Formats: sequence, structure tokens, C-alpha cells
Amino acid sequence: MSTEDSFDQLRTRALASLAEARVDAEIDAWRVEWLGRTDGRVTALLRAVREQPQDQRAAFGQAANGLKSALEEALAAKQDDLKRQALAALSTTQAIDVTLPGRPQPLGRLHPVTQTLRDCLKAFQEMGFRVAEGPEVEWAYYNFDAARIPEDHPARDMWDTIWVNTLIDGERKMLLRTHTTPNQVRVMERTPEPPVRVVVPGKCYRQEATDATHEWMLTQIEGLAVDEGVRMSDLKGVLYEFARKMFGQERKVIFHHSYFPFVEPGVEMAMDCFICRGSGAECKTCHGTGWIEILGAGMVHPEIIDNAGYDSAKHTGFAFGIGVERVALLRWGIEDIRNFYQNDLRFLRQF
Ligand code: DAH
Repeated sequence: MSTEDSFDQLRTRALASLAEARVDAEIDAWRVEWLGRTDGRVTALLRAVREQPQDQRAAFGQAANGLKSALEEALAAKQDDLKRQALAALSTTQAIDVTLPGRPQPLGRLHPVTQTLRDCLKAFQEMGFRVAEGPEVEWAYYNFDAARIPEDHPARDMWDTIWVNTLIDGERKMLLRTHTTPNQVRVMERTPEPPVRVVVPGKCYRQEATDATHEWMLTQIEGLAVDEGVRMSDLKGVLYEFARKMFGQERKVIFHHSYFPFVEPGVEMAMDCFICRGSGAECKTCHGTGWIEILGAGMVHPEIIDNAGYDSAKHTGFAFGIGVERVALLRWGIEDIRNFYQNDLRFLRQF
């Protein structure tokens, strides 16, 4: 067999085996086998040129070099080929179809009580009140004593309190605040001189059996305005305006006398029933009375004004407390307060 014939056969075998290679590792193994610098078959042939008889050396060398370039070319072509295939595969598996509609992003929203809280605060801000905050874990002093609810006072029983277990001087002195009223004193303490005009929103806690109108956690807004010459008519004007902003311009309000230790006189404000407008004996919202109680208020007790370092002979004020869940129940006609905190998205998504 001539040198050329055997080189041709080698080339055929090499190319056939390269054609079978499918992945980089196989191609590399092939390269090492044929073109590897130490043990490659073609390399061995090139090394063998010197051992050929003088008259065949040139032809052998030429054939070996020809084989080497042929295989190198085939290798480069094969590698190109593989790359192209990989790219083609990518464009089918990971193609971006710019004509597809986007995936909808689930949109969150504010909880109905938060929405209501913000609307209430906005109503007061528009009347010149600023927003302040106070702690949820409160001293019994601020929650009760400073608000004129001493230990032996029956009014202390109005609240079933959640106490913090830690004893201080042998006594429980901290609790989860039962109302936002402690912030009346807190705000005055850090305001050296009237005027004071704040609303203080926040969560309050009561150890309470829950039912359709009671939750053990509730949101309140405390309001406080203290200045020279603040009168009951100011209280009425501000709260009337609040009712109209929240429940419609045509609202009417009525004030009844009530008792809260921290105000004198104390009142409860009701507004006309915007559901039945006073005509429905079976109205679930006003129970046929035509009126809906919405908040407690009053003129700040002079003792509290004086304790804050102000002079009750000169400074007077009014205060109010609003249950935000109650406002939310009313404005949307929700029947059970427990809906708010059961986290049922079907309920919450409606608002
Ligand atoms: N703190 C009272 C409560 O939780 C609400 C309240 C009533 C606040 C009358 C006031 C007020 O500021 O004047 O039931």
C-alpha cells in the first residue's frame, strides 16, 4: 500500500470518529488522540519522518503534514458547528417573545382600617392638627393616674387591661395601653407652652371577649387642642366638620352628656344615620334610633391642664377619642369587626 493510500485511510478514520463526537469532552478526547502534542497519532507520524528511507522521506513528510492540516481544519469546523448548534438551541429554549403580554404583578393595597385611619387623620390635619405618636407599652401612670383614673376609681374597671408581667418595686406598672388618652399628658409634657393641636393615632389593647363589635386590639385616634379661650363650641365645630368630611356634607350631629374622668364636661357625639336617615325601625346600623354614636369627647379636665404645667385659669382645651374600626365599619356597612383581623383576602380585597 502506498504512503498516500494509508494516509488517506487514516484521514477517513479520523474524520469518521470526529463526526461521531457530540460534546466538547468527546471532541477534546479526539483532539488528544489525533493531534495531541506528546502521544497524538499524527504527531507520532511527523516524528517518524526522520526514520523513513531517504527517498520516501519527503513524500511521507508532505503526507503527514497534509493530514495534520486536514484534521486541524476539520476540528475547527466541528467546533464552530457545535457552537452554532448551542446558540440555535438557546434561541428556541430561552427565546424572549416580546409580543407576549406581561405577567400581572399582584398589587397590594392598604388595609381598610389603615385607609380609614389615614382619612380621619387627613380630616384633622386639614383643620390644623398635627400627628404625633406614643408608646403601645405604657406606664399605668399615663394610662390611668395622669388621666385621673386612680387605682380605686370605678372607671378603672371599664378596661380589662393586659398587663406586662414584669414587677417594678414589687408591682405591675406597665401595660398595653387601653386607649390613646395617655398621649394627652405625654404631648402636653413635651410642649412647654400652648397652643397644642394634635391627633395621636395608635393601637390599643383590652383583655376582652371578642364579638361583632369588640376586638381585643383596636385602633384609636386621640385628639387634643389646648390654648387660651378654647371652648366647647370649638370642640363641636371641629367634630361636626370631621363627621361631614368622613360621612358626607349633609350629616347632622348631636351631643349627649357622658362621663369620662379626664374631661369635664364629657360628651358623646352621634350623627344622623346615613343608612336609613332615621326612617328605618329595623335599621341594623342605628337600630331604629336614627342616630349613630361615633366618639367620646369633652373639655380637658382643669387638673390635667395644671398637672401639665399649664395654667387652667388661662388655658382650656378639648379632647376626643375615636375608634377607627368603628368608623370603618360604618362607612362600608360592615357587620362584624372581626373581619378586619382575620386576614381573609376575599374580604380585604373589597376595599
Ligand atoms: N379614652 C376613651 C376610651 O377609650 C375615649 C375618649 C373619650 C377619649 C372622651 C377622649 C375623650 O379624649 O374626651 O373609651
